[in-house]
Amino acid sequence: MGRVQDKVVVITGAARGQGRAHALRLAAEGADVIAVDICEDIATNGYPLATRENLDETVRRVEKLGRRVVARRADVRDPAALRAAVDEGVAELGRLDAVVAQAGICPIGGERSAQAFLDAVTVDFNGVVHTVDAALPHLPDGAAIVATGSFAGLVPATTDNPALGPGGLGYSFAKRQVAAFVHDLAIVLAPRQIRVNAVHPSNCNTDMLNSDVMYRTFRPDLEEPTREDALSAFPAMTGFGIPYVEPEDIADTVLFLVSEESRYVTGMQMRVDAGGYVKRRPQPPAF
Ligand SMILES: NC(=O)c1ccc[n+]([C@@H]2O[C@H](COP(=O)([O-])OP(=O)(O)OC[C@H]3O[C@@H](n4cnc5c(N)ncnc54)[C@H](O)[C@@H]3O)[C@@H](O)[C@H]2O)c1
Repeated sequence: MGRVQDKVVVITGAARGQGRAHALRLAAEGADVIAVDICEDIATNGYPLATRENLDETVRRVEKLGRRVVARRADVRDPAALRAAVDEGVAELGRLDAVVAQAGICPIGGERSAQAFLDAVTVDFNGVVHTVDAALPHLPDGAAIVATGSFAGLVPATTDNPALGPGGLGYSFAKRQVAAFVHDLAIVLAPRQIRVNAVHPSNCNTDMLNSDVMYRTFRPDLEEPTREDALSAFPAMTGFGIPYVEPEDIADTVLFLVSEESRYVTGMQMRVDAGGYVKRRPQPPAF
């Protein structure tokens, strides 16, 4: 028996990175997956998003683990598309036990427009609400909801640095709202014993971090910084002095939060940040 044997989990942002890692970790522990991803770019976001081929690869790898998967292209900003994807997945897989709202963008350092702010908010916050809303009608008592926040939503003066433009402000704004939403939703759903938790990663070794916009963010002193240049600056984010955590490190926490091992864990802001938060904020946190 796996730790999430025969549970069905919907995961957004499942085509690559952390979302794919969650799909594979959960499948390896016995879950079937509804894998959702936009599979196209968003203009204000300064690095490419996943492709259909990336999503197909997630499907291939989940099936290789012997589990079923329903994959759908949908934009988390579009509640109707998301509802259709979840409904179709549940019709095929027979049930829904958990939600992992992982899809996200970080449109920092790009165009200085209100659109960049709004795109960050509508993907990174509204997208989480839409995902939960699409799933809730299917969720039984005792289900699990996990939303991806960010270290940047808990610590000021990270992406909300004005030098990073409206997209950075929008990113921090959205992630703070994710933390608050999880807190409040945990209260609302407690009578049904539905657990609602946020995972807040530090730098994570995915395409989002490994992008020119991030290299420029971490090395504003250089004209065209490379990954190697950024590697010397990444460790400032953590207390352990490491440059980033791996997607599989986040997936381990997601697995715990989806499994029955966390049946009494709710409303938590789970930081997987190698000590980055406590390094900056030794006082008790607001959440
Ligand atoms: N990588 C990091 O350093 C880091 C740190 C903290 C938090 N996060 C959070 O993790 C998430 C990003 O995941 P990642 O690190 O694997 O990066 P990633 O860019 O590799 O993956 C993000 C996935 O989400 C998908 N996506 C983006 N917008 C979407 C939309 N509107 N609808 C559906 N799918 C969409 C992308 O296509 C991609 O597959 C974001 O929520 C981000 O805030 C990342």
